[in-house]
Amino acid sequence: MTLKKRPRRIRNNPFSRSLVRENRLMIEDLIYPIFVTEGQNIKQPILSMPGIFRLSIDNLIQEAKECYELGIQAIALFPVIDKQLKSEDASEAFNDHGLIPRAIKELKKQLPNLGIISDVALDPYTSHGQDGLIDSNNKILNDETVEVLVKQALSHARAGCDVVAPSDMMDGRVAKIREALEEHKFIDIKILAYSAKYASSFYGPFREAIGSSVSLGSASKETYQMDPANGDEALHEVQLDIDEGADFVMVKPGMPYLDIVFRVKEAFSKPTFVYQVSGEYAMIKAASEKKWLDEDKIIMESLLAFKRAGADAILTYFAIQAARILQQHR
Ligand code: PBG
Repeated sequence: MTLKKRPRRIRNNPFSRSLVRENRLMIEDLIYPIFVTEGQNIKQPILSMPGIFRLSIDNLIQEAKECYELGIQAIALFPVIDKQLKSEDASEAFNDHGLIPRAIKELKKQLPNLGIISDVALDPYTSHGQDGLIDSNNKILNDETVEVLVKQALSHARAGCDVVAPSDMMDGRVAKIREALEEHKFIDIKILAYSAKYASSFYGPFREAIGSSVSLGSASKETYQMDPANGDEALHEVQLDIDEGADFVMVKPGMPYLDIVFRVKEAFSKPTFVYQVSGEYAMIKAASEKKWLDEDKIIMESLLAFKRAGADAILTYFAIQAARILQQHR
């Protein structure tokens, strides 16, 4: 055959494959989510997330140090709140002496340069497991919830966090949080908005990890999280959060929603984050344990796909594992 075009030509050698590679995953792209719990020297395994633990603050510091030494730039904190502290009004969410403010303070003392992202949502703190307050008919109350979220964000800001990350999907919360941060002179605190967050079944293992699945029971989050059937709506949500003052926007879950990551980045050219959620982690882990998949390779391929889709940073429970793999390949 005489062929003018042979696309395989540039794939022939490692050198030319490397020269034409369009996307690269770097350790600096990774954000590690960590579950924090009360107590000392606690490291509780999470059944559906092998390799991930609930850590007391002392162990959290060790894990955070490991992240920092590997070159991971930021961690995201998720609290496991004692059952006695959960309530209808989620008042523990803005307790300045609560678990998360204490964790933030200790982290900032020990690792001032590691970015600390704190979750703003009520589900770890409500007795019913919803991200918002409810009325007597179990309706999720938007505006009342936003008021509590503002208090929570300010409490994290006072503790010294770098980024507050509203993951609750209430309307108007970014605007109100931004306004409050400005009023209180926290002008440098960034908002990572979970803008296109879907009502997904991929969050199952996370809910086990923070203990909200029992409280939630069979209730769903469909009145505030997005319908997995929708794409245009994600763009509307992202637009609103940008207009309201978000610094970074996020799509969640990750792999099943790569089209959304792509569209958001294309439409707005804003810093776009993606969350490879607990269920995605669990799937890869489970298949790898069975030796049905090559774990390291699947991890790297799944993370690279986020970059190709347009993500600037990736929240992933594989952050430490991926950073180690990337270091070996230096
Ligand atoms: C709740 C929250 C969830 C996750 C992050 N924040 C779960 C939910 O909305 O029920 C999921 C993260 C994961 O699955 O890894 N505010």
